[in-house]
Amino acid sequence: MIEPVRCKTSLFVNCDCIEGARRFLPDGSVDLVVTDPPYGIGGDRLDRHYNRDERHVVDGYVEVPADKYGAFSAAWVAEAARVLRPGGALFVVSGYTHLYEVLGALRSSPLVEVNHVIWKYPFGVFTQRKFVSSHYHVLYWARPGGPRTFNLECRYGLDERDESGGSLNYRDREDVWTIGREYKPGKAKNRNELPQALLEKIILYASNEGDLVCDLFLGGGSSARAAIGLGRRFVGFELSPAIFAARLPELRRLEPGSRLSSLRRPAAAPRARRGRAWTEEEDRALAAAYARLRAGGLGKGAAIERLAAEFGRGRFGIEKRLARRG
Ligand SMILES: C[S@@+](CC[C@H](N)C(=O)[O-])C[C@H]1O[C@@H](n2cnc3c(N)ncnc32)[C@H](O)[C@@H]1O
Repeated sequence: MIEPVRCKTSLFVNCDCIEGARRFLPDGSVDLVVTDPPYGIGGDRLDRHYNRDERHVVDGYVEVPADKYGAFSAAWVAEAARVLRPGGALFVVSGYTHLYEVLGALRSSPLVEVNHVIWKYPFGVFTQRKFVSSHYHVLYWARPGGPRTFNLECRYGLDERDESGGSLNYRDREDVWTIGREYKPGKAKNRNELPQALLEKIILYASNEGDLVCDLFLGGGSSARAAIGLGRRFVGFELSPAIFAARLPELRRLEPGSRLSSLRRPAAAPRARRGRAWTEEEDRALAAAYARLRAGGLGKGAAIERLAAEFGRGRFGIEKRLARRG
């Protein structure tokens, strides 16, 4: 019997992700899946950080045998596609060993590719007779049939420049991301725990406050920390009882929205599409996005502000369109 743990705006479940998703997530109920499946290379070989004290790594990591990796990937990707709303997005962090199987599963699913991002991290494991491995793949796919959330100016306004005149917004949206790993000496951690900077970037661009974010392979809960801190609702599944039990107390303490006040505020740029006529499709997408934000608990003013950024329109224009549709 699966005992879900509900707290505040989140749900954590110690079970297989497919079983859990079938039980707790109706079709089309999730806005964003951010996940980091086991890598199929043997948990004990995973990610031995240069200079890390392995005594603090929580045991119990459940691996997938290499010869089962293709079928395993197909099964969880199909489940992710089912739970995503039309327009909802999936971000998968993958090493290169089984990348072709993850890509195969994605290509056989109803999802469509948006980007293939390379996450480059400094200080890969030192080698002398070959190049140093220092990247992961971040696969960004989406379910067709609805408006995809992409918050163009969530981190940098379109007009913001660095000291040499380069666009900060453009640089932030290139598909190679250099983001350091987190070193937390003396603290409990999961194997391959993802940095908050990486997860926050994904979540800010691809979801809005009040949206439901799901991680099928919760591990130490780094995705939960990022999503909940950014005011998103969250659901996560972890198969290992040891990892789940070790991390649950910390997950229970997470405060929804606690990171929001310390985020960098992008400088507003003149709204790109201000004054342009609305298409029927844009109108429909606006109404659907507004209904979703309100259902997710966002107030009217905050929802309109979000939509102004997302649709590249002024607040007043957004309000007028919504009023016309009643
Ligand atoms: C790569 S780790 C995730 C690490 C996580 N991103 C973090 O930051 O801690 C993959 C996790 O999936 C768990 N796992 C393996 N098979 C699973 C399954 N079928 N359902 C749910 N969790 C599973 C493993 O125990 C492991 O904790």
